[in-house]
Amino acid sequence: MADKNRKILVTSALPYANGPIHLGHLVEYIQTDIWARFQRQRGHQCLYVCADDAHGTPIMLRAQSEGISPEELVARMSREHQEDFAGFHIGFDNYHSTHSDENRECAETIYTRLRDAGHIATRTITQAFDPEKEMFLPDRFIKGTCPRCDAKEQYGDSCEACGATYTPTELKDAVSAISGAKPVEKNSEHFFFQLADFEGMLRDWIDGGHLQESIAHKLKEWFDTGLQDWDISRDAPYFGFEIPDAPGKFFYVWLDAPIGYMGSFKNLCSKREDLEFDDWWGPHADCELYHFIGKDIAYFHTLFWPAMLHGAGFRLPNAVWCHGFLTVNGQKMSKSRGTFIMARSYLDHLNPEYLRYYFAAKLSDGIEDLDLSLDDFQQRVNSDLVGKVVNIASRCAGFITKKFDGKLSAHLSEPELYREFVAAGQEIAAQYEAREFSHAMRTVMQLADRANEYIDEKKPWVVAKEAGREQELHDICSLGVNLFRVLMNYLKPVLPGTAEKAESFLRTAPLNWNDCETPLLDHTIDKFKPLMTRVEKEKVEALIAASKEDLAAAQPTEDPQPATTPLAKDPIAETITFDDFAKVDLRIVRIARAEHVEGADKLLRLTLDLGGETRNVFAGIKSAYQPEELVGCLTVMVANLAPRKMRFGVSEGMVLAAGPGGKDLFILQPDDGAEPGMRVK
Ligand code: MSP
Ligand code: ZN
Repeated sequence: MADKNRKILVTSALPYANGPIHLGHLVEYIQTDIWARFQRQRGHQCLYVCADDAHGTPIMLRAQSEGISPEELVARMSREHQEDFAGFHIGFDNYHSTHSDENRECAETIYTRLRDAGHIATRTITQAFDPEKEMFLPDRFIKGTCPRCDAKEQYGDSCEACGATYTPTELKDAVSAISGAKPVEKNSEHFFFQLADFEGMLRDWIDGGHLQESIAHKLKEWFDTGLQDWDISRDAPYFGFEIPDAPGKFFYVWLDAPIGYMGSFKNLCSKREDLEFDDWWGPHADCELYHFIGKDIAYFHTLFWPAMLHGAGFRLPNAVWCHGFLTVNGQKMSKSRGTFIMARSYLDHLNPEYLRYYFAAKLSDGIEDLDLSLDDFQQRVNSDLVGKVVNIASRCAGFITKKFDGKLSAHLSEPELYREFVAAGQEIAAQYEAREFSHAMRTVMQLADRANEYIDEKKPWVVAKEAGREQELHDICSLGVNLFRVLMNYLKPVLPGTAEKAESFLRTAPLNWNDCETPLLDHTIDKFKPLMTRVEKEKVEALIAASKEDLAAAQPTEDPQPATTPLAKDPIAETITFDDFAKVDLRIVRIARAEHVEGADKLLRLTLDLGGETRNVFAGIKSAYQPEELVGCLTVMVANLAPRKMRFGVSEGMVLAAGPGGKDLFILQPDDGAEPGMRVK
């Protein structure tokens, strides 16, 4: 593969311009950057473009609240984002913005081509409108009381407390989160992209192997529920691009966001003579195009985006690759635990290459979530990078400097061992290519173990003390340095900074993948300086502490009241009669199945076995439980609750749980001996 020269364009998702980069984001940018650096090191042309996702209501409102223009806010965030990315060695070839001339041009082209081909429809819809602020309200900007459980302060689309989903009009005592005014209903004409026009094309594309299997499988489910028209317009006031020939109507942020990949590339073309836009995006483009994204935004990238591209006469991506989400210490990143860590705070405390290596050691080609366990992080980096790889050089280089004037031996002892190291490059390259970075790291560390075993066996520190064994010492240490060089070559996509230091220590030009086929013989190297220091526990602790402080600084008004007991927060309800209570039919059930619900942030779908019949229940407990831990457990359900139609299906009852919500939710479990179907009374 290395012989054929490939032309590759890669992208990462465009981060929203209304918040800072955090470690969760970095999973993606580090993954993409490692892959891009690997391709370049193999001698291919690999361009990596990205941009800030600048449009939408949250950005408009945030700018207003800061008393600046959205353009100013976007410019500031872009600077901050780029500094953060640079700090982690993310080597973009271009970083642009969706709020740019190039993106406007691309968005207008795509839209007008789709419209002229008959793929855009208009329809009048009714939406909540803030009469004071005079704007339509996205669901997230409406708050009120849950129509099902009466929890206060819930969003317009779903209840955090009970997991119910509903439309904003069903919410009780709804108010605009912006002005506090009571929303009214108002009609407006919207533009829709008719996704169903592309069903055949999308089915073919999905069958064409451009997606991970699990994603392709999910798409098929989406097909089965029917492809809906996509609402692509928003009414003024909106921060975005006005739709051609439709004054007061703007493109919805998600329409011009993926087009931002093109816009950024177009901007790059304007800076570089050697790049022609159509060679990369035209219908007959022969270069490769890959999008790296998080699994949460697969829908946009695997349905809308290919359909838009195809409908407007552009090329399709070769692949869309999804990754999973980052957890820290086994849990969702949490501000109060100090595990919601900003890129900037990390850089203030720790070497970015530790994190690049740790993520590499955990990343696969799949969509499973990955965990940053801080103890494991420290232990892994110290043992692999410092203890194994860098150690090889530090064990050998001192003798070369002291005894041989910095010059490596002219002779390669143990050529088979060296050849074995070089030959492993094929396997490692295949692992990088397939985004199996964890396998690549394992293969490299096995080689590092071999190198250290060789040094342990040859004991240069003993040989050095014995007269007449100088040549032997020279050969052992020279081989050690050469083996180290091969390993640094393999790690270079992950550790670009350390590799650069190693190149300067070895006094060689930047390493290309195949350079190590020829060992360094009779070659002068520099005095060895430690290339990387150990992760210190204190620094990790300081980072966690600082991340808690970030929170305090960001939200000075959080928790102004002293903590109170659950009873004080939620006093006991009005007295009821026994008959009132007896109406509620509570039953013991066994959780026969528990699964994630596509598109639902808070819900799990539970199949409850009543010992004879089963019920399907959607429970808002995803924040606190993994499906696996629930299967087989006994719990208590309200069995005679009227079935409720939810966005994801019908819920036939509810399970009982206590706690304020989030991680703190505790489902009820009966004592040993209870059996499914027994009544609770
Ligand atoms: N602006 C959209 C993407 C538009 S792409 C045309 C967006 N922005 S984001 O800032 O919310 O997320 C950017 C990327 O970071 C997404 O791919 C998202 O999946 C990823 N991640 C955000 N938080 C993450 C974790 N906690 N873990 C792993 N990836 C995460 O979505
Ligand atoms: Zn509720």
